[in-house]
Formats: sequence, C-alpha cells, structure tokens
Amino acid sequence: MSTAAWSLRRLNAVSEAQIGELADVLVDCVEGGASVSFMHPLARERAMAFWRHIAEGIAERKRALLVAEDAIGICGTVQLMLELPENQPHRADVAKMLVHRRARRQGIGAALMRAVEDVARGCARTLLVLDTVTGGDAERLYQRLGWKRVGEIPRYALMPRGGFCSTTVFYRDLTAQ
Ligand SMILES: CC(C)(COP(=O)(O)OP(=O)(O)OC[C@H]1O[C@@H](n2cnc3c(N)ncnc32)[C@H](O)[C@@H]1OP(=O)(O)O)[C@@H](O)C(=O)NCCC(=O)NCCS
Repeated sequence: MSTAAWSLRRLNAVSEAQIGELADVLVDCVEGGASVSFMHPLARERAMAFWRHIAEGIAERKRALLVAEDAIGICGTVQLMLELPENQPHRADVAKMLVHRRARRQGIGAALMRAVEDVARGCARTLLVLDTVTGGDAERLYQRLGWKRVGEIPRYALMPRGGFCSTTVFYRDLTAQ
C-alpha cells in the first residue's frame, strides 16, 4: 500500500473548483518568484481566467493536463501541448510545470515529469521540448531526469518582480530509452 501523501492523475475535464485550485498553485508560484509567464502580483481572478482558457484546450484535446493532489487539493500540475503543425506529428511541448511551495521537495515534480512522458508515449509523441528559467530549481530537475540541455537564450523573459532572465531549452528523445 502506498503511503504517499499525494497522488497524480490526468484531468480530461476541469471543473470550476479545480480551476480555483490550479489558480492557487499558479499564484503561489508567482508569489514565490517563479518566471512562469506572469508578473507579480498575480490576482487570483486573472489566474482563474488563465486556467479557464487552458480548460478549453483540455476539453478540445489540444493539451493534456496532469495534476498532483494532496490533502488540501491540487498542489502540482504540468501540461503537454499536443496541438502542433502537421509536419510535427511526433512532437509535443511540455509547459507550466508548477508545484505549490507547500508540496515541494517530495518528488512531485519528478513524478509529474515521468507521468507527462508516459502520456506523450501514449499519444505517439516521441520528441518533447521545453524551456525553463536558467539556474532555477526546474533546470536541475530536468537535467536530473535525463533531459538534454540545448542552450540558453539571454534576456528571454522578465522575472515576476522585474529584471531579465535567460531561458534554457531542453529536449527529450523518447525513442532513445
Ligand atoms: C521546479 C519545481 C516544479 C520542482 O518541484 P518539486 O516537486 O519540488 O520537485 P522534486 O521534489 O521532484 O525535486 C526537487 C528537489 O527535492 C528533492 N527531493 C525529492 N524528493 C525528496 C524527498 N522525499 N525528500 C527530500 N528531498 C527530496 C530532489 O532531489 C530535488 O532536489 P534539488 O532541488 O536539490 O535538485 C518547483 O520547484 C516549482 O514549481 N518551481 C516554480 C515553478 C517553476 O519554476 N516551474 C518550471 C517552469 S518550466
């Protein structure tokens, strides 16, 4: 029997309650200084609007959404973006890997990445691409999990409280294992 205080699942539809929980994770990550598209402070309503838009893409099967849940609710998430040009049917992008600060350093990030790779295999996607802020916790995580580091793009984005950050591009060839 598993004694983990959290579990993972794929959501094929996203309820309004789940949108609220996903918004709380996003707001917490921005509050914690993560460079994940938004500037600080991120209002909960705005975060909910973002997730409502993502939920439409989930319903249309343009994206796959994985969540980790603990006793409080959703505490982590990652997405696989499946809608790509017709000349890239074997590829997908990994995006919005977020773990609430209350749930970090328990292996949830690593488990979400392994699970998203399994979803990709299930969708016959054999090449995955992502980018992440250079020097952050996520860069270490992807390297630890065997993702190949391509290189850095300087001045790619702003940190949530201002100041440029570089991004590091990674890929994972799922035919290689
Ligand atoms: C990057 C991020 C997703 C990692 O999530 P996480 O759930 O903490 O990831 P893990 O628990 O798998 O690994 C994190 C660390 O905890 C350690 N760890 C894992 N399980 C552990 C355990 N049971 N006990 C102690 N440490 C543990 C890992 O070795 C790793 O150590 P390191 O940071 O020194 O390399 C999280 O920090 C986050 O959401 N950051 C902000 C958002 C962000 O930047 N997202 C990336 C966008 S691309």
